[in-house]
Amino acid sequence: MNAISNGPVNWDPYNQAYFRNPYPVYRRLRKEAPVYYNAEYDFYALSHYDDCQRLLQDRNSFVSRHGNLLEFIRAKNTYPSGMFIYEDPPLHGQHRGILTRVFTPKKMAALETQIREYCARTLDRFVDGGDFDFITHLGAEMPIRVIGMLLGIPDEDLKEVQKYTDDRLQVEPGQPMSADHDYDYEGTLFARYVDWRVKHPSDDLMTELMNTEFVDQSGKSRKLTRGEIMIFINILSGAGNETTNRLIGWTAKTLAEHPDQRRQIYEDRSFIPQAIEEILRFEVPGHVAGRFSVCDAVFQGVTIPKGSTILAILAAANRDESRFVDGDKFDIHRERVPHLSFGVGFHSCLGNALARVEGRIALDEVLTRFPEWTVDLDRARLSSSSAVRGWETLPAKLTPRLKVA
Ligand code: HEM
Repeated sequence: MNAISNGPVNWDPYNQAYFRNPYPVYRRLRKEAPVYYNAEYDFYALSHYDDCQRLLQDRNSFVSRHGNLLEFIRAKNTYPSGMFIYEDPPLHGQHRGILTRVFTPKKMAALETQIREYCARTLDRFVDGGDFDFITHLGAEMPIRVIGMLLGIPDEDLKEVQKYTDDRLQVEPGQPMSADHDYDYEGTLFARYVDWRVKHPSDDLMTELMNTEFVDQSGKSRKLTRGEIMIFINILSGAGNETTNRLIGWTAKTLAEHPDQRRQIYEDRSFIPQAIEEILRFEVPGHVAGRFSVCDAVFQGVTIPKGSTILAILAAANRDESRFVDGDKFDIHRERVPHLSFGVGFHSCLGNALARVEGRIALDEVLTRFPEWTVDLDRARLSSSSAVRGWETLPAKLTPRLKVA
């Protein structure tokens, strides 16, 4: 059978109307074109949970070496050693292993107090009023500071790091992202910082990255090169910044639109972890994860030829009715089924525990001060990054605790 082409249902990932509300078209894709082919941009897209899971788990048939974003895979990009998010075995395992060794639950737990203090300080400024914006004041500030705490990057340098990573993801609305990326970090803040850290070792993750030994492809035990370390820092600051920022925005918007559930969480904070899981399922920041196929593959009776760009639409899989009853409904009490928001398998998100902690603490600290809020969607703006979907500004009117009946 051939894949269903641009006939009855069309999904153009750059179309701003779809970008604003992609869920109706995802529903149609699941039903009418579960193996969708877009001739204009020459890619396949899968929208069923099981198919997306298979794409990400079968690393022999679907590889990461050209990237996981549509533009990168289509351009058949290649990357320098250390860019493990876009590596395949055995290199991927060697590099990911280093980070897993130093990115421990103990390190995450140690950050909790600092994250809470930061949220408290920021939110306390608005208890007596003021124009609050969930992104400007919380989402765009907190996750990047957490990366800074982890890597030991001083606060005054963080804006430059953030600008560097954000600029790479931003596109003109409706336009594809440039596939051309420069991975030479000489002369950038990353290079300056690594050189400084070599002379001033500390107890941070950066110093551990510099000292950890691993066995490389040639069977030699060695430390990461200076270039690889810069790439690792870039991955961490890129992967953990905008995604978590968007999670905070979606938390604010989704709960503002579901005040009954917000009230339940306010009254019983033990609901926070499941609320964050449901927000991640319902409004995943990264809608797609792509792979390049190195052999013919059959999905739903449709053959996808070798050499194709295939996207797993995680946001569609997260609402697949075969897994999630009434998938388009937001319900913090739904039966726990793992969502795909952090991917699955070998490349699954290394920062998921940290992102979850950040989301939970932010929500808890907001509720402690402001049990209710409304968001001003007329003044809010969606980000124009095609890699991550979420709010760039989200002005809100907060109701402090004492004013709530
Ligand atoms: C809500 C926040 C986040 C979301 C939705 C998210 C989502 C994802 C997804 C879907 C992948 C898999 C990509 C693929 O299979 O191609 C991934 C990988 C990754 N994430 Fe996250 N992420 C988040 C936060 C973070 C944070 C806070 C960090 C670290 C500070 C992080 C670090 C990484 C890394 C290093 C990988 C690559 C793992 C590998 O290739 O082996 N992420 N993330």
